[in-house]
Amino acid sequence: MHLTAERLDRISPSQTIAISTKARKLKAEGRDIISLSAGEPDFDTPQNVKDAAIRAIHKGETKYTDVAGTMALRKAVAAKFKTDSGIEYAPEEIIISTGGKQVIFNAMVATLNAGDEVIIPSPCWVSYPDIVALADGKPVIVPCGQNNGFKLRAEDLEAAITPRTKWFMINNPCNPTGAAYSAEELRGICDVLLRHPDVWIFTDDIYEKLAYDGFKPATIVQVEPKLRDRTITMNGCSKAYAMTGWRIGFAGAPLAMTKAMDKLQSQSTSNTSSISQAAALEGLTGPQDFIGEMVAVYKARRDLVVEMLNKAPGINCHKPEGAFYVFPSVHGCIGKTTAGGATITDDESFVIALLEEQGVAAVHGSAFMYPGHFRISYATDTDSLREACTRIQKFCEGLH
Ligand SMILES: Cc1ncc(COP(=O)(O)O)c(C=O)c1O
Repeated sequence: MHLTAERLDRISPSQTIAISTKARKLKAEGRDIISLSAGEPDFDTPQNVKDAAIRAIHKGETKYTDVAGTMALRKAVAAKFKTDSGIEYAPEEIIISTGGKQVIFNAMVATLNAGDEVIIPSPCWVSYPDIVALADGKPVIVPCGQNNGFKLRAEDLEAAITPRTKWFMINNPCNPTGAAYSAEELRGICDVLLRHPDVWIFTDDIYEKLAYDGFKPATIVQVEPKLRDRTITMNGCSKAYAMTGWRIGFAGAPLAMTKAMDKLQSQSTSNTSSISQAAALEGLTGPQDFIGEMVAVYKARRDLVVEMLNKAPGINCHKPEGAFYVFPSVHGCIGKTTAGGATITDDESFVIALLEEQGVAAVHGSAFMYPGHFRISYATDTDSLREACTRIQKFCEGLH
């Protein structure tokens, strides 16, 4: 008998695994490998957040909480949405989940029927299409061109909407491109959505705080309050507070949607860790200076990486507004042979040869539903980044 369910066959194991397995193997063989493939901050969680977690343990905050999270944390999240985006959510309209990922999972599993369509602009985070497929939905991928800064054009959204469209997902700033939308840039998208009242909107704003040169990523309900009744505004602590391991994601949504997600979560994980919730409360309500310091470091690294990559022959690197990724094109390298004798046929063979010959691990664009590019995470110390970019330059200079 076949062990796994049919639903499991619809999804693929993370495409980044092949490259990270190879990187680990080379490292074990003693090779000097620089990994630029991780999707998490290299900063440590701030001390005040760690201290709050330790205090919570000592105070005995070690029991189940409400499924949707402690009232104190839900109030703090509601205050965050009000302060940062001018959006009013009652604490009952907030749900705290085990990472932003569980919010997405909850939303899709709680609402999709077989064949319902979910519009996903690409390049997109690897998990979106798989979560949609697991929930019986149909991902509808809409490519966004580098010539438009990898941002979705309103007319492309309009063209993708059908009577089966249940959700439109947007990620601002975006993993893997770093592209971010200002309020003006979201206006046209909101106008399309106003014309289609049956489409729900899921906005993943988890990289909101990571934007550079004064750029302010906006969020859908802030730009168009009339969309509030059919939007989930998702955010979390993983990236802004360097808290990936603590597993805190959250969302504001209309009450019926929050209740649906709460019902599902009550039969899966229940609340996320009580200790993590206490830590997140301190993150959201304590001093925020840490974020500014982190952003200044990321900005300097982004500038360094973009400048160095654009000096590598065959590579074209767009300068993004936010997150901690760049998504350069390798079109100029395809069809060439490396110094080590490998042929570059596509983005995947590019990253494999780069790893084998120069010891730099990055993720190929196809993993993000967008071939011809690769993703570099600059959430790595600056010296390693500089060295990695020097090696990429050497690799490209060796192509013939
Ligand atoms: C775009 C995007 N959304 C959501 C997440 C998930 O965040 P969390 O670790 O809070 O589940 C990630 C993590 O990499 C991400 O890149």
